[in-house]
Amino acid sequence: MKAIQIKKDIYWVGVKDWNLREFHGYTTPRGSTYNAYLIMDEKITLVDGVKHHLSQENLSRIQSIIDFSKIDYLVVNHVEMDHSGNIPDIMRRAPQAKIITNNAGKMALEAHFDTTGWQFEIIKTGDSVSIGSRTLEFMTTPMLHWPDSMMTYVKEDKLLLPNDGFGQHFCSDALFVKDAPFDVVMEHAKSYYANILFPFGAQADKALKTAGDLGLDIEMIAPSHGLIWSGKSEVEAILNNYAKWASGANEGKAVIVYDSMWGATATLAETAMAELQAAGIPVSKHCLAIEDVSEIMPDFLDAKYILIGNPTVNNQLHHRVAGFMAYMRGLAPKNKVGLAFGSYGWKPGVVKQIQQAFDDLGWSSYPPFEEKYTPKSDVIQKFREHIREYIKL
Ligand code: FEO
Repeated sequence: MKAIQIKKDIYWVGVKDWNLREFHGYTTPRGSTYNAYLIMDEKITLVDGVKHHLSQENLSRIQSIIDFSKIDYLVVNHVEMDHSGNIPDIMRRAPQAKIITNNAGKMALEAHFDTTGWQFEIIKTGDSVSIGSRTLEFMTTPMLHWPDSMMTYVKEDKLLLPNDGFGQHFCSDALFVKDAPFDVVMEHAKSYYANILFPFGAQADKALKTAGDLGLDIEMIAPSHGLIWSGKSEVEAILNNYAKWASGANEGKAVIVYDSMWGATATLAETAMAELQAAGIPVSKHCLAIEDVSEIMPDFLDAKYILIGNPTVNNQLHHRVAGFMAYMRGLAPKNKVGLAFGSYGWKPGVVKQIQQAFDDLGWSSYPPFEEKYTPKSDVIQKFREHIREYIKL
């Protein structure tokens, strides 16, 4: 396994996880990569590790360039195990290397591994370390998306190494976005933001402002997942999209998410879609029986109206709706207008749990709509009127 040069004397030494199909609940149909980088300067610096089961691939790429005994620094931008799982393997081979991380990073490494004998250099935002002809500048980005998350900027190369930020769960032959279909990569970047970073819009917004305050001039963004953004237009495109997603602004669209037992809740979902379309509101409709939760969340970024339909089962939410609600509540989208609807057979009221979730998320909402068994034409008419009132919010 060979290292691949991405800029003069800076190498990609990451790994490709072609077979990854699930990332703690997030479906990853295109696999992923765990990118690590090796900077060959007076002080040889490795940035980030990889997931443990692919450690050997990472180690052999590093060794294709340099012996481990020559490594001076290991920058740990983030301690989640997809980037740090093989750090003990690296430190066994390079015990002389000093780990550059922040306070939370050191604590997290100590909580995961036996760090006896490891040397640390603790940094905070605005700190820099000279490695010879290059300067590494650091920006801590707590809760984007872990307490220990940080980004490294290689000043002379105008290169940002933002770890999870700007990443995509996307594995391909290509290393650079320019060598892959741009729209497909951006779609995966959007999905990554929606499924991983959605709760941390304020932190993403702050990180973008801090990068501006620090005057970072960025020509290349090399994240720790997926492909590398290079050149002005690609860098601007991903930065602009992050600014938009982090702002919580939406495009006024609608998303319908539902499940159905005998077609009654599906009929209500169809009715809602027709009424929204008649009002000129772009709408997407997702049936939880056939779609994964993580395929749905990107649409939430563009949506103002969120409609969730539940078929009551044994006086409870359907388990797929309940699972979706748990996933969605964790991602905590903001500034939405909710509507719960559904069919019941024995007893009404379960959709109030969905309404409660809207309230807990701080959304506006319109009263839930429920119907016993199959909605007849008079009920459908009533639901149409309900939707017309709802979209006045
Ligand atoms: Fe890619 Fe937060 O780990």
